[in-house]
Amino acid sequence: MKKKLIAGNWKMNLTLNASIELTGNIVKNVPKKSIIETEVLICPTFIALSACSTLLKDSGIMLGAQNMSDKDDGAYTGEISASMLTAAGCEFVIIGHSERRKYFGETNQIVNSKSLKALTSGLKPIICVGETLQEREDEIYEAIVEKQISEGLAGISDEQMSDVTIAYEPVWAIGTGLNATPKQASDMHKFIRGLISGKYGSEIGNETRILYGGSVNAKNAGEILHAGGIDGALVGGAALKAEEFCTIISSATEK
Ligand code: PGA
Repeated sequence: MKKKLIAGNWKMNLTLNASIELTGNIVKNVPKKSIIETEVLICPTFIALSACSTLLKDSGIMLGAQNMSDKDDGAYTGEISASMLTAAGCEFVIIGHSERRKYFGETNQIVNSKSLKALTSGLKPIICVGETLQEREDEIYEAIVEKQISEGLAGISDEQMSDVTIAYEPVWAIGTGLNATPKQASDMHKFIRGLISGKYGSEIGNETRILYGGSVNAKNAGEILHAGGIDGALVGGAALKAEEFCTIISSATEK
């Protein structure tokens, strides 16, 4: 059975020293039982990756980045390549977060190109999808997510799918304190799993991990994580507090 994954997306928060402190506190407080039954990932800012990687050694907690370039190397000022991330100790990379789509113009095609580059470079992409409030109100949310999935996964092979994680994050629930009801989340996860099964067959559809993200916190995590078809969480704000993040990790295993 696939383990649940609890991933912390630190976004553009914390200086190097504050990142080191938070990582140390997570390593110290993470429940030992949970780290065996649940996979845990933190995604600090680029400049904190190397230091955090050293601190995570032997902790069982994995490291990821929040974004990467789809180019190998060269004259792309300000960009970070996949090989730089693997060299810094990253195993995962978040791709196509709604904030990247909204503020940095990332299209489904860019998300696809970055995901393919991650996969051929030994990084596991967490591909983010999700509709805006307007799209939900207009009842076109399934069509939007279907397009994000089909265009985002274009050209990804059956074998590569074992390294792909999807994160369903309704944009209206990110950083707003609003969150999808367990039923809304579970329904969308079923819908997404159906799309993946349609493209790759039901075995890969069932095996692919689909995370929920959007205002997950210590209070609501248990209910969301056990709503059915939800294989973990991508946590933003609540991942910046060691104690709260560790409580969310524990909720993944408690029934
Ligand atoms: P949030 O962010 O938990 O602060 O809503 C989640 C995310 O954007 O990944």
